[in-house]
Amino acid sequence: MAAPLACPVCGDELRPRERALRCGTGHSFDIARQGYVGLLTGASTKMTGDTAAMLDARAAFQGTGHFAPIAAAATHAFGAAPADDAPAPTDDTGRDRAEHRGGTAPERPPHGGVILEVGAGTGYYLAQVIEADPLMRGIALDVAKPAARRSARAHPRVASVLADAWRGLPIRDNTLAGVLSVFAPRNPTEVARVLAPGGRFVVVTPTARHLSELVGPLDMVRVDPDKDRRLADSLSGAFTRIAHTLVEFPMKLTRADVTNVIAMGPSAFHGTPSDDPRIASLPDITEVTASVTVSSYIPT
Ligand SMILES: C[S@@+](CC[C@H](N)C(=O)[O-])C[C@H]1O[C@@H](n2cnc3c(N)ncnc32)[C@H](O)[C@@H]1O
Ligand SMILES: [Zn+2]
Repeated sequence: MAAPLACPVCGDELRPRERALRCGTGHSFDIARQGYVGLLTGASTKMTGDTAAMLDARAAFQGTGHFAPIAAAATHAFGAAPADDAPAPTDDTGRDRAEHRGGTAPERPPHGGVILEVGAGTGYYLAQVIEADPLMRGIALDVAKPAARRSARAHPRVASVLADAWRGLPIRDNTLAGVLSVFAPRNPTEVARVLAPGGRFVVVTPTARHLSELVGPLDMVRVDPDKDRRLADSLSGAFTRIAHTLVEFPMKLTRADVTNVIAMGPSAFHGTPSDDPRIASLPDITEVTASVTVSSYIPT
């Protein structure tokens, strides 16, 4: 199989050469000391992505394991069993446990190939998907340097790429087994172009109940209640949905967890300081709902 990474200038296949990736035409892209390859080209992108502080907060929160059922559901959506130590979401209907509603993607055995995560952030979700299949490799793509640095260390079989998803994916046509987007931007036309036959696009989006106990008291940015419909609209035509699962479960968060969960998301841009008195006045443990949908698509 041809290497999936494509030259962002001419689209030719990129191959490793010393501390760089080069295409046949001679365009060359350095591999940074921190392990990622910079594929941003032309006029500097207006997109800057998340800040180092947001990435630090996200890594700290993901490190607690509170979002592990979401990572397990994303892994399952690609047809692989989650790694042994990842708590799998149950099919139970009780709201006091990880809850799955709706169809689940058809099972298929792990089969290798390359999965791209768009807007990979820390690389937390991609690393778990890749870990479930020893033959699988990953590409973590993000427009933010602090994210590219982190995901370069996320998993030995994950390559990290600095690129702007809205400028086109630096990936050759029909080369990928899957594309993942978790709370991140999507570029449906480009995703359809890069998926190989049989490849899946797995999208994780928050529902209006996600972190809802914190939204009012801490003045967080609300999830658009129409998010699911907007997602369906943006993908209709190019993609057919084959599975749609609600993953909803309670989390017991400390004040440090709450601080990180705010600092890692869009509310961080609205200036909630880490020593906010509203957080200081929370009880030692606050029960907060995690609620996302995991949808699997194939190109139409
Ligand atoms: C809310 S974060 C989610 C990160 C990760 N998927 C997770 O859930 O931990 C969204 C990510 O998308 C990245 N991003 C935003 N715009 C982007 C773009 N145009 N191209 C690539 N990545 C982008 C941000 O830098 C950020 O890391
Ligand atoms: Zn080139």
